[in-house]
Amino acid sequence: MRSDTAPAIRLEDYSPAPYTIEAVALDMQLAPKATQVHARLTIRRLTDTLPGTPLVLDGGGLELTSLSVNGVAIPVESYTVTPDKLELLSPPSEPFELEIGTRIDPDANTQLEGLYRSSGTYCTQCEAEGFRRITYFLDRPDVLAVYTTRIEARKSEAPILLGNGNPVESGPVPDKPERHFAIWHDPHPKPSYLFAMVAGDLAHVADSFTTRSGRNVDLKIYVEHGREDKCDWAMDSLKRSMRWDEEVFGCEYDLDVFNIVAVSDFNMGAMENKGLNIFNDKYVLADQDTATDQDYANIEAVIAHEYFHNWTGNRITCRDWFQLCLKEGLTVFRDQEFSSDMRSRAVKRISDVRLLKSHQFPEDAGPLAHPVRPRKYTEINNFYTATVYEKGAEVVRMLKTLVGADGFKAGTDLYFQRHDGEATTIEAFLACFAEVSGQDLSHFALWYEQAGTPLVEVESSYDATAQSLTLQISQEIAPLPGQADSKPAVIPIRFGLIGSDGADMSFDKVEGAEVRQDCLILSQRRQTVRFSGVSERPALSLLRGFSAPVKLHAPEKDQDLAFRAAHDSDPFNRWQASQTLATQSLLRLVRAAEAGEELVADSVVLDVFGSILSDGSLDPAFRALSLQLPGEADLAREIGKNVDPTAVLKARDALRAALGSTHMDLLRAALSQRESGPFDPGAEAAGKRALANQALAYFAASDASDAALIVNDLFDRADNMTDRLAALTLLVHGDLPGAQAALEAFRNRHETSSLALDKWFMVQATAPLSSTLETVRDLAGHRLFDENNPNRVRSLVHAFATGNPSQFGRPDGAGFSFVADHVLALDARNPQVAARLLTCFRSWRAYEAQRSSHAEAALQRISEAENLSRDSRDIVDRCLQ
Ligand code: TRP
Ligand code: ZN
Repeated sequence: MRSDTAPAIRLEDYSPAPYTIEAVALDMQLAPKATQVHARLTIRRLTDTLPGTPLVLDGGGLELTSLSVNGVAIPVESYTVTPDKLELLSPPSEPFELEIGTRIDPDANTQLEGLYRSSGTYCTQCEAEGFRRITYFLDRPDVLAVYTTRIEARKSEAPILLGNGNPVESGPVPDKPERHFAIWHDPHPKPSYLFAMVAGDLAHVADSFTTRSGRNVDLKIYVEHGREDKCDWAMDSLKRSMRWDEEVFGCEYDLDVFNIVAVSDFNMGAMENKGLNIFNDKYVLADQDTATDQDYANIEAVIAHEYFHNWTGNRITCRDWFQLCLKEGLTVFRDQEFSSDMRSRAVKRISDVRLLKSHQFPEDAGPLAHPVRPRKYTEINNFYTATVYEKGAEVVRMLKTLVGADGFKAGTDLYFQRHDGEATTIEAFLACFAEVSGQDLSHFALWYEQAGTPLVEVESSYDATAQSLTLQISQEIAPLPGQADSKPAVIPIRFGLIGSDGADMSFDKVEGAEVRQDCLILSQRRQTVRFSGVSERPALSLLRGFSAPVKLHAPEKDQDLAFRAAHDSDPFNRWQASQTLATQSLLRLVRAAEAGEELVADSVVLDVFGSILSDGSLDPAFRALSLQLPGEADLAREIGKNVDPTAVLKARDALRAALGSTHMDLLRAALSQRESGPFDPGAEAAGKRALANQALAYFAASDASDAALIVNDLFDRADNMTDRLAALTLLVHGDLPGAQAALEAFRNRHETSSLALDKWFMVQATAPLSSTLETVRDLAGHRLFDENNPNRVRSLVHAFATGNPSQFGRPDGAGFSFVADHVLALDARNPQVAARLLTCFRSWRAYEAQRSSHAEAALQRISEAENLSRDSRDIVDRCLQ
C-alpha cells in the first residue's frame, strides 16, 4: 500500500493545549526487550478550557499496560487508546494525577528516537517528538513540566544511571539484589523534548567548573570503556564554553552537575537535554591519531552549541516547532561567535560562509526551499535544515549589524530577563531588539517569512569630473514552488571604496540609501545610490564580512578582482575576491570542456594564487583557505542549469594541474616548511598543517615526477590524522601508485576505531574515479559496513551522494540508482536518516537532460515504494512537485 500524504500542520492553526502537565514522575524499569515505564502526571485544566473537555495525549507505537486517575483504575468506557493516541473522554475539572503504564522495546528501536540501545547502552532521543514513544504525553514544546526520574536496571548491565537535573538518591533495590536504582530531579520546568536518560556500563572523565556566582558544577563526560583518553579536548571545550557564555552573554549554568554522554549510534550531531547532553561520539572523541583538525574544530563548536542551548532553547524554549529557529538560529550564531573568539575570526567567517553557500543556498533554490520560520510541515524532523540553522544564524547576525553591538547586547539581556521560563516566539524575540534600539524591525522580520536567496545586482559608474560614484542596485528572489513573488528585504551591505593605493577612500555624502558607518542599508526593489566627493575611480568592495545571506552580482574585471585579492582591507572580501576570480576562470574552462576544446588556465589566476602562496605575512589558515578552489558543487551551483558534472570535474582538474605545475618551486618550498615537534590541536598549528596539505595537493596534481613518492612518504611518516588522511586522500583520489597499499595500511591501523574507519569509507566514496561506484557497492557489503549505524551510512552512501558530484551524477544514472536503493532499504529501519539521505536529490532539475531524467526516475521509484515513511514521503513529494 502506498502511504498517503500526512496532513500538513500549519502555524496559523496554533492554539495552546486545553490542559497543562505541571509535574512528571517517571519510573523506568529497564530491560532490553520489555522496558516498563510508569508515568505519574500532574495535570491541570486551563482556565479557558470548559470542564469535561477531552484530553488527547500523543503516543508513538506504545502499548498501554495500566491507567488510573487519582489512584483509581479508570473504566474502559472513559478512554480510548491506540498505539499513537490516548484520549480521556471526560477528565476531572480539578487538578488530577494521571498514572500511565506503558511497555516499550528498546532493542527493536532501529529508528533511534525515544528509548533505544547503542552498543548496549540505553539512551534516549526525544527531540522533536520522541518522548511520545516512551509514554503518552502532551508532546509539544509549550507544555513545561518539572521532571523526576527514577531509573532501575540490572546493576551488572547498567552500573551507570543518568537523568536530567541533579542526582537525588541511588542504591540497591530492596529484595532484588541484582537491581539498583537512581532518582534524578530537574527543578527547571522543561518541554518533553528535553527529557533524557542514559543507563549502561560506561567509563567517565571528571572535572569541575565554578560559575561566576560561585556555584560549583561537577562536569562529567561518559564514554565506552577504553575511550577515556579521548575526552580531553571536549572537556576543555566545555569549560571554555561555560566561561565564554558568562562573559559574553551573561549566561550562567544553573544545576550542580553537567553530564555529557557519547554514543556511537545517533541520528544527528548532539542533543541539548537539560543537564544531560547526549552526543554522537564523533563530536566528543578526539586524539592525535584518530581525529583531524576539522574534527577538533567541530567538537569545540558542537560542545559549545549544546551547552549554549541551556539558555537559548532550554530556559527559553519554543512555543511550537515553527519557532525552531528561535533556538537553533540564535544558538548557531552563538557558537559561531564562540569559535571566532577561540580561533581566527576571519577564517571562521570564511568557513561558515562556505558552509552556508554549499548547503543552504542549494536548499533555498530548489524544491525543498522554505522560510527560516516555515509556515507548514508534515514531518518536523525534515525541518532541521541548513535554512533553519545556518540562514537562521545569518538573520541574527544581520540583526546585530542593524541594531549595533550595544543594542544587540541590550536586546539579548532583555530577552533572557523577560522570557526566562517561557516557550516563546520569533515575534517576542524581535520585540526585545526593537524596544531597546527604538528601531522598527517589522520590515526586517520578512527574513523569517520569505524563502529563497535574494540576488543583489549592482552596476557602478564613476564620473571623474563630478567626482561621484553611482550604483544602480536591484534585489529579487527567483520564483519558488509556493512563492511566486517576493518582496524586497532589508539588506545590510557593508562596503568600502578602495583607492589605487589600496586604502579605503573617504567620500562626502551618500544619496539614495541609508548609510550607517560602513553599511549601506537596502530596502527597495531598485535603488540608485550616489556617493559624492570620491576622488578617483575606486575598486568597489561590497558585502564585506558577508553582511547578508545574498547572492551578489557586481560585474568586475579579473584585474580588479586580483587587485582586491591583494589589497582589500576586509579579510573576508579578500578571500572572496580570489574565489570569484577562480570561479570566473573555472566557468570559462567548463565551457571549453563542454565544447571539447583545450583547457588553458588564465594567467591572472595563476599569478594571484602564486602571490598568496608566497605571502608569508598572511595567516597560514587564511592562505590555505584562499588557495582552495571552489568545489565542484559550488561551480555547479553557479552554472545553475544544464549542469554536466564531468565537464566541471575536468575544468577543475585542469586548473589544479596548471597551478601545481606553474608553482612547483613555491610548492616544494611550502612543503619543506612542515613543522615537526609535539602535536598541538590549536588553531594556529592546525592552520600550518592546512597550508602544507593544500600545497601538497597542488604538488600532487602537478607534473612533478616525484609527486607520488612525496605523497606516499608523507602518508608513511604522518604522526597525526590530519596529515595521514590528507595524504591518503591525494593517493586515492588521484589514483596514484601506492593508493591501494595505503588504504590497506590505514584500515589495519584503525581497525578498532570506528570513527577513523568512517574516514576510510569516506575517502573511497568520494574518489572522482569511474571505478568508484563499483568500489562503493563492494564497500556496502564489506564486513566493516553497518547499515544500522548512521555515521557509517553517512560516511559511505551520503558521502558518495554529496561529496562526489561526477560519480553520483554519472550519465548512466547508476549513481542515482545506487543511492535510491539505500534510501529504500534504510527507510524501513531509520526514516529520519533515510529522508536526510534522500535530500541529496534536491537539485536534480539542474542537471542536463539525460542525467535529470535518470534522477527523476530514481525519485519516481522511491515515490512508488510501498509503506514509505512519512519522513521520506514528504521529501520525495516535494522534490517531484
Ligand atoms: N537540537 C539538536 C541541536 O541542534 C539537534 C537535534 C534535533 C537532534 N533533532 C534531533 C539531534 C534528533 C539528534 C536527534 O543541537
Ligand atoms: Zn541546536
